[in-house]
Amino acid sequence: MIYLYVISGIVVGVALIFAFVWWNNRALKTTRYKLDTGLGKSVKIVHLSDLHGARFGRDNSRLLLKVAAEKPDFIAFTGDAIHKYRARDIEVALETASALCAIAPVLYVSGNHEMRNKGYRFFRLRLMEAGVRVLDDCTADICGLSVTGLNCASLKNEKIKTVTPPAKEGVPRVLLAHMPHFAKKYAAAGYDVVLCGHAHGGQWRVPFTGIGVYAPGQGLFPGLTAGVHTFGKTEVVISRGLGNSQCPLRLFNRPEIVVVELS
Ligand SMILES: [Fe+2]
Repeated sequence: MIYLYVISGIVVGVALIFAFVWWNNRALKTTRYKLDTGLGKSVKIVHLSDLHGARFGRDNSRLLLKVAAEKPDFIAFTGDAIHKYRARDIEVALETASALCAIAPVLYVSGNHEMRNKGYRFFRLRLMEAGVRVLDDCTADICGLSVTGLNCASLKNEKIKTVTPPAKEGVPRVLLAHMPHFAKKYAAAGYDVVLCGHAHGGQWRVPFTGIGVYAPGQGLFPGLTAGVHTFGKTEVVISRGLGNSQCPLRLFNRPEIVVVELS
């Protein structure tokens, strides 16, 4: 009889561990921020990042339903839709991007993984065919905002100075840039709001503290992994992202959909 109790205990324990790991990696969490930009009207942006080929339900249906329920004015995707070495991520990202375009306009900027994926040129072309506005080093005017995308490769070579459009009275400038650890440069360029990803929330987060363990470019216990950070007049919004890259598991760090309401 005792064996039955032991085996049942092990089965329940293993099932709980699987459920916990699934919840940490597949249970989407929506985080909302309201930012005052003096726009004079409300603009709702759904901010997605770092999909890395992840699927949330069949054909990413759970992700798409949550995004559609927000009724966003546009969707901003801040890079790493794919993994640098995984060719299959391209099809997942294209299917998802195409479905997102049916919900609202999608503005996209590349991340470091796109830069290193041999299929990126093909992927970029297919994204544009699907209706995505690829903002690698260019600007789009949308919903009364000036939205610039900084190509990931341009972050290090000071190209931000030439990419940044001149300020216009009453038009907030929004920057989509994959990496958050260049936040001071974005602020120095004069942007009102910056949307970033890349840090995956620090991949594993210390429970109840909001502290991430590691982020590329920032090292151990990084400061810029999630939330809204103010640099002078610039608000930097950092998504914890959706998928995984080198480390296959998130811990206390659920995949995140960020909703930013500008008013
Ligand atoms: Fe990433």
